Amino acid sequence: MVNESTPSQPIELPLLAASGLVKNFGGTCCAVDRARIEVPQGSITGLVGPNGAGKTTLFNLLSNAIRSDQGRVLFDGEPIHHLQPHIIARMGMVRTFQVARVLSRLSVLDNLLLAAQKQTGEKFWNTWFQQKQIAQEEKAQRQKAFDILESIGLAHMMNEYAGALSGGQRKLLEIGRALMADPKLILLDEPAAGVNPTLINQICDRIQGWNRDGMTFLIIEHNMDVIMSLCDRVWVLAEGRNLADGTPAEIQSNPEVLEAYLGQ
Ligand SMILES: Nc1ncnc2c1ncn2[C@@H]1O[C@H](COP(=O)(O)OP(=O)(O)OP(=O)(O)O)[C@@H](O)[C@H]1O
Ligand SMILES: [Mg+2]
Repeated sequence: MVNESTPSQPIELPLLAASGLVKNFGGTCCAVDRARIEVPQGSITGLVGPNGAGKTTLFNLLSNAIRSDQGRVLFDGEPIHHLQPHIIARMGMVRTFQVARVLSRLSVLDNLLLAAQKQTGEKFWNTWFQQKQIAQEEKAQRQKAFDILESIGLAHMMNEYAGALSGGQRKLLEIGRALMADPKLILLDEPAAGVNPTLINQICDRIQGWNRDGMTFLIIEHNMDVIMSLCDRVWVLAEGRNLADGTPAEIQSNPEVLEAYLGQ
């Protein structure tokens, strides 16, 4: 007799799953209102919605940059909604910001090196006793930073101040900083906003390449061409609530989604 309660395949949990997330900033309505989202391992998942729909706030709740009023977030099978953002980042979930946050007075290379995960040399006593190991780690980090700069097309600018980069190049540098942490999941908040079309294509190509190498992405984006070309699945928020989710083609032809955008 076949035991139907025993599946032949193990059930694969999404890499990131959030449900019932609520955030009220004190107005009449919630910026995020019982929102749910799932990001399967290995996917490029999209998050779209009109201006003010709550997308960035949802990112802030997922990464616990802002504490939610209600709801739960599971990352890699672990509840994370009670953890500090830097712990979540160390577990492998990192994010970029709608307005790229680079350190303008540091070089492009140093911006990446600062984003590297904990190293032996950061502990005072280790700088005395483990100098060889520290030197090896630094060499490896510089090589990794250089490889990342090559992959984002910024190697030729590694000694320039980050402040000298264009808006699009800053977005790439921010993604590069995220990659330095060896993440499992990268949350990108509008990677194509304010970026020229040539660089948008380059960013999309890179994201697809990293995804083929196994990296999972959750991407907020208003540029529908980017969403259509990159995403496996798209979630739509409107007024803080889930409006729809589906393939990019399903979302684009959904009349409720169209209405939410036209009505803004
Ligand atoms: N720190 C805050 N304090 C008060 N209200 C906030 C705060 N952050 C966001 N909001 C409000 O919450 C709502 C959702 O904002 P959010 O920035 O998450 O939207 P969004 O979907 O990212 O919009 P956009 O596409 O324009 O970036 C908006 O009404 C916004 O004014
Ligand atoms: Mg936003």
